[in-house]
Amino acid sequence: MDKFVIEGGERLKGTVRISGSKNAALPLLAATILHKGVYNIGNVPRLRDVTTMARLIGVLGGSVEWVNDQTLRVDSRNVENYIAPYELVKEMRASVLVLGSLVGGLRKATVSYPGGCAIGERPINLHLKGLSALGCEVKIREGYVDVVAKNLRGSKVYFDTTTVGGTENILMAAVVAKGETTIYNAAREPEVVDLACMLKRMGAKIEGEGTGVIRIKGVDSLTPCDYEVIPDRIETGTFLVACGITRGNITIEGCIPSHVKAVTDKLKEAGMDIVEDQNTIKASMFNKRPISVDVKTIPYPGFPTDMQAQIMALMTIAKGVSATTETIFENRMMHVAELRRMGADIKVIGNTAIVKGVKVLSGAKVMASDLRASASLIIAGLAAYGITEVSRIYHVDRGYESIEKKLRELGAKIVRRKDENMGS
Ligand code: EPU
Repeated sequence: MDKFVIEGGERLKGTVRISGSKNAALPLLAATILHKGVYNIGNVPRLRDVTTMARLIGVLGGSVEWVNDQTLRVDSRNVENYIAPYELVKEMRASVLVLGSLVGGLRKATVSYPGGCAIGERPINLHLKGLSALGCEVKIREGYVDVVAKNLRGSKVYFDTTTVGGTENILMAAVVAKGETTIYNAAREPEVVDLACMLKRMGAKIEGEGTGVIRIKGVDSLTPCDYEVIPDRIETGTFLVACGITRGNITIEGCIPSHVKAVTDKLKEAGMDIVEDQNTIKASMFNKRPISVDVKTIPYPGFPTDMQAQIMALMTIAKGVSATTETIFENRMMHVAELRRMGADIKVIGNTAIVKGVKVLSGAKVMASDLRASASLIIAGLAAYGITEVSRIYHVDRGYESIEKKLRELGAKIVRRKDENMGS
């Protein structure tokens, strides 16, 4: 097992290029099962979760290979197996995204029922409710969800909670269902829009993606396509916050500024100067201490839950007192206890963290509990006085491509080391 060793105190300076989005790439890869053929998916980040999805497609009968640095070639012509096994789903919950594409492509799916994870229970009841509405027979047995779609037909699907994965699964099944489907209270996240764009390139008829109501007209057949994944908005936000906490001055290239508006808005409030161009953000903190700002996580276009831990790290050294409220996941405050070990003054009341900014954090040995919590601890370490060791960084490797290399290029002192105490 690896750990990061960070010597804090370096102001970030320079240029960083953003990778393709993890949370867009995973459903796009799943969508290749919907119609048998050869797909070239570009701008795919090299991450552990992407490898897990590739392994899953392999188990289903497809083949996946890198054809250049960031392009994955998926051949789904031999996909005949419809069972997503426990061993892979337990490694990555997003494996559940093959539910919609298997139902659409093979008219049946048996997918291990995903358990909860560090950040919450994360049920899939709404995915299943949506599939039932489309005429699927859904059964749970022996830890698996069994879906048979003899008569896949369009319908009205209401989500009482906005769900990104649920919207994606229903989209994939509905594009080949007979008749029209309307998804109400659909997720509006850019990753959902990216999936809809790829499906449209395959010949699907979809309207309203990016709004709360998506209308789909089922088509008889699709065609394979080539596609480019959008840039990762959470990676973009993470580098912006890292710049803020180190009072730095950086340029972020290859991003989509409109996708991170909720984050840049908050950072401006916190005192950051932000200049946006088409695919570039220039951010400067003018060597000033940030000002405390309140944050509440809300589905897109609100402030993303996937940036909550990182902005809280920034608030730990900000001037004033702030409240960070998590409304999406019930247990996404695991980083708080670790940030406290670095000297942060945080009190949690219900789902709100009250953060009293301190002048300086001190380096400590801390442990990552999930992907975004790890990013938050790295960010805190960049600003802390002394050495911070972040262990269990396999979480980081799931979702940030070459994070230490990119941070080093911006001047951070961060190295990856074997963690002798954690086994391998
Ligand atoms: N929910 C239900 N029932 C369902 C589905 C969801 O109650 O059937 C609840 C969840 O428990 C949660 C809320 O709805 O409280 C939102 O969950 P959603 O389904 O939107 O989340 P997801 O699709 O499982 C994706 C991202 C997450 C991100 C969330 C919210 C992927 C692969 N994952 O998860 O990303 O936090 O949307 O934006 O796209 C991450 O990258 O670190 C990460 C956790």
